[in-house]
Amino acid sequence: MEKPWSGRFTQKTDAFVEEFTESVSFDKTLAPYDIAQDIAHVKTLQKAGILSQEEAERLIKELKKIKEEIEEGRFEWRKELEDVHMNIEAKLTERLGELGKKLHTARSRNDQVTTDERLYLKDQIREIRKLLSDLRRRLVLLAEMSVDIIMPSYTHLQRAQPIRASFYFLAYREAFLKDDERFLDLYRRTDELTLGSGAVAGVDFPLDRFLTAEELGFNRVSRNAMFATAERDFIAEFLFVCALTAQHLSRLAEDLILWNTDEFGFVELPDKLCTGSSIMPQKKNPDVLELIRAKTGRLYGNLIALLTVLKALPMAYNRDLQEDKEPLFDTVKTIKDILKGMTLILGELKLKRERLSSVSGNLLLITDLANYLVEKGVPFREAHRIAGNVVSYLLSEKKTLEEMSTEEFKRFSEKFGDDVKRTLTPEHSTDKKRTYGGTSREAILKMIEVAKIEEGL
Ligand code: ARG
Repeated sequence: MEKPWSGRFTQKTDAFVEEFTESVSFDKTLAPYDIAQDIAHVKTLQKAGILSQEEAERLIKELKKIKEEIEEGRFEWRKELEDVHMNIEAKLTERLGELGKKLHTARSRNDQVTTDERLYLKDQIREIRKLLSDLRRRLVLLAEMSVDIIMPSYTHLQRAQPIRASFYFLAYREAFLKDDERFLDLYRRTDELTLGSGAVAGVDFPLDRFLTAEELGFNRVSRNAMFATAERDFIAEFLFVCALTAQHLSRLAEDLILWNTDEFGFVELPDKLCTGSSIMPQKKNPDVLELIRAKTGRLYGNLIALLTVLKALPMAYNRDLQEDKEPLFDTVKTIKDILKGMTLILGELKLKRERLSSVSGNLLLITDLANYLVEKGVPFREAHRIAGNVVSYLLSEKKTLEEMSTEEFKRFSEKFGDDVKRTLTPEHSTDKKRTYGGTSREAILKMIEVAKIEEGL
């Protein structure tokens, strides 16, 4: 088949080159957007007096037919036509002859491809934000169920201070809320019409780009044709935000994998979301969580791949930019999958109250002991030292804090009063964290109330 650009060539394209340079095998994903932009472009060309009304109508009718054929899987994609754009245009020309050849007036694939990508990405961001919202709702529901479970928090993976379990779930809800803000923010920069930029310098005909923008639902029109065709910053940003969202998912997955072990025993995953071992009959493995954790690596890879492609590209368009698509499509599929996977897991997660509440019998309340002394007028550093002495005493006596008598406390400081035992409880410890953003029951109930309103629950 003759190439659209065959005019200046005297040789047929080498078979390897055809195979190596084609992108239609993956960019056909953009077909619905390509056709939408073709239709908008036809209308703009008509308004500019380049196409008659009758010509515009015939083109649009045929484009709609092609769209249907693609949707029904009846369209024959040809690698020798390189990409989605030329496949559709060639079909149009095959059917409408000379008229089909008019479609590409005042347009280059350089502005065409980013327009498709922007339309595609806007839809994808909307879908991803919906999945993120489903996930946050699950976290809020878990928070609501666990206000009265007091569990250990960890720093350095060592038991730190008691928290209410809700606080943990709300912490992740916070992470996914920030991710959503980032998606929304990059959506604004994606929502920009680049069509009408031509190959690099703008186009010769009096196209009303604002009309095209309105037709396609873009909020803004790009301001510099060179930048518009040369850059893929909006895709890099998207890949970054997905990578960061995945990082949050991966950390959550890691916690749940640990919590699901016999050693922790904080949660239990249902059978239907686990898989078994082919050799060890007793095994019930958290493979979904493990794969969520692992797929984060792919998303980092996709981001680095694109950033590397963009680095040091001479201004403006270079064919290197075709390499933006596979990382983009892979990230879109992966982020959706892992968001769905985590939402599914959280919906079925069984919290094991007794194990989670195993706050006593260990040293989680030692900071509270130091703070008790501070309230009696001891400077914090000194209080910290005294509490440290208590810790080493407990360790050498093989005792727990609960087992210490008031008399024993008094041996460490005369500031210890008869009320010391009463204040050293997990409830007391959490509920003293009354500052904004702390883990007290009161603060958490307020957080949940706000979160429910924000999530429309
Ligand atoms: N498939 C190409 C891409 O994704 C479309 C643009 C081609 N432009 C060009 N001048 N060869 O970048």
